[in-house]
Amino acid sequence: MKLTLIAGARPNFMKIAPIIRELEKRKEEGLDINYRLVHTGQHYDPALSASFFSDLGIPEPGINLEAGSGSHAEQTAQIMLGIEKDLLNHTPDILVVVGDVNSTLACSIVAKKLGILVAHVEGGIRSGDLGMPEEINRKVTDSISDFFFTTTTSAGENLVAEGVDPSKIFLVGNTMIDTLVFQQEHFNAPEFRNAKRDFLLLTLHRPTNVDDPMKLEKLLNEIVRGAGEVPLVFPVHPRTKKSLDRIKDLPDIEFLNPLGYNQFLYLVKNSLGVVTDSGGIQEETTYLGVPCLTLRSTTERPETVEIGTNVLVGQEWDRVQEYVRTMAKGNWKQGRIPKHWDGKTAERVIEKIVSILK
Ligand code: UD1
Repeated sequence: MKLTLIAGARPNFMKIAPIIRELEKRKEEGLDINYRLVHTGQHYDPALSASFFSDLGIPEPGINLEAGSGSHAEQTAQIMLGIEKDLLNHTPDILVVVGDVNSTLACSIVAKKLGILVAHVEGGIRSGDLGMPEEINRKVTDSISDFFFTTTTSAGENLVAEGVDPSKIFLVGNTMIDTLVFQQEHFNAPEFRNAKRDFLLLTLHRPTNVDDPMKLEKLLNEIVRGAGEVPLVFPVHPRTKKSLDRIKDLPDIEFLNPLGYNQFLYLVKNSLGVVTDSGGIQEETTYLGVPCLTLRSTTERPETVEIGTNVLVGQEWDRVQEYVRTMAKGNWKQGRIPKHWDGKTAERVIEKIVSILK
C-alpha cells in the first residue's frame, strides 16, 4: 500500500503529524504500508515551517516542491506543476490531503485527473462564505474527493446535502486535537515581557482583517480598549507584519515573532482568553476550555460556538470592545468537547484507509 501525504502550510503540519506517527507504528507492527510526504513549500519561513517539523517530530519530506508565495493563481499553479511530476514519478494508491489551504486544492485536482484516489481529512466543513479562499478550496476539494474523514457530525451533513454518498464519509474526529493531546506535556513558555501577569492572546492573519493597515489599526485599538489593564500578547504572522509596518503609532500590545507549536500552545493554555480570526484556534481553545473570541461573522466550525468556548463577533467593532472587556474580566461561558476529539483520530483514519486499500 502506497500513500502520498500532502502538507504545505502551517496548519497542515499539526494535522499530518499524527497520521505519520500512526503510519510509522503500523509499519513497525509489520503492515505493508509505505508513505511519501510531500511538502509543497507554500510556507517556507523557518518559523512557519521547519520549526513545526522539529516541534512535532515530522520526518524530512520526500520532496519539497518549493512553490512559495504569490497570487492565488501563481501559488496554486506552481504546486500543481510540482505535484504532477511527483505523482507521476511516485504513483501512490491514494493521496491524502488535509485542511483547506491552496496546497489541499492544488494537489487533489492533479491527483484526481491522474486517476489517483483522493482522501480529504477534515472534509465537509463549510463557512458558507465564498469570500474566503479556504471555502473555495474546501468545496472544490470535496467535490472531487473519494473519501472524507470528518471532524464533526455537521461536516458529514454538509457533504450529504451536497450529494456525497454517506458510505464514503467517516466521522473520525480531529487530527489537530491528536497533536494537541500528544504534545501537551511539551508545551513550554516563550520569553515574553508579561509572562508573570494574566494576559490575553491575540492572533490575526485573515486578509479581510489584516491586509488594510487602517482597518487593522482601528481593530487593534478596539481590542486594546476592551482589554483595559490586561496585557495583550500577539505573535505576528508575516502577512500581518506587512500591514503593521505601515502603522505609525502602534497600540500598546506585546508583539512577538511567530512562535513554534509548543510555545504557542503554552500561551493559548495559559491565557485568560484568545482573540483570533484563525480556524484551528477555535478548535484548540474549545478542547482546552479556554475562552475564544473569533473576529469573523461566519465559522466553518459551528460546534466550537454551539458547545465549545467560542463566540463569533463578526466585524462590529463596538461589540469587539465589549466582548474583549468581558473576557478580560474572566466572565465567559463554559464549553464541552465534541465527540471523537480524543487524541485517537489518526488511528481511525489509517484503519479505514487500510481497509479501503485492501
Ligand atoms: C495560508 C492559508 C490559510 C491559513 C494560513 C496559516 C490559503 C489560501 N491560506 O494563509 O488558510 O490559515 O496559511 O498561516 O492557503 N509568507 C511569508 N513566509 C512564509 C509564507 C508566507 O512571509 O513562509 C507571507 C508572504 O508574504 C505571503 C503571505 O505571507 O504572500 C501569505 O502567505 P500565503 O501562503 O499566501 O497565505 P497565508 O496568509 O499564510
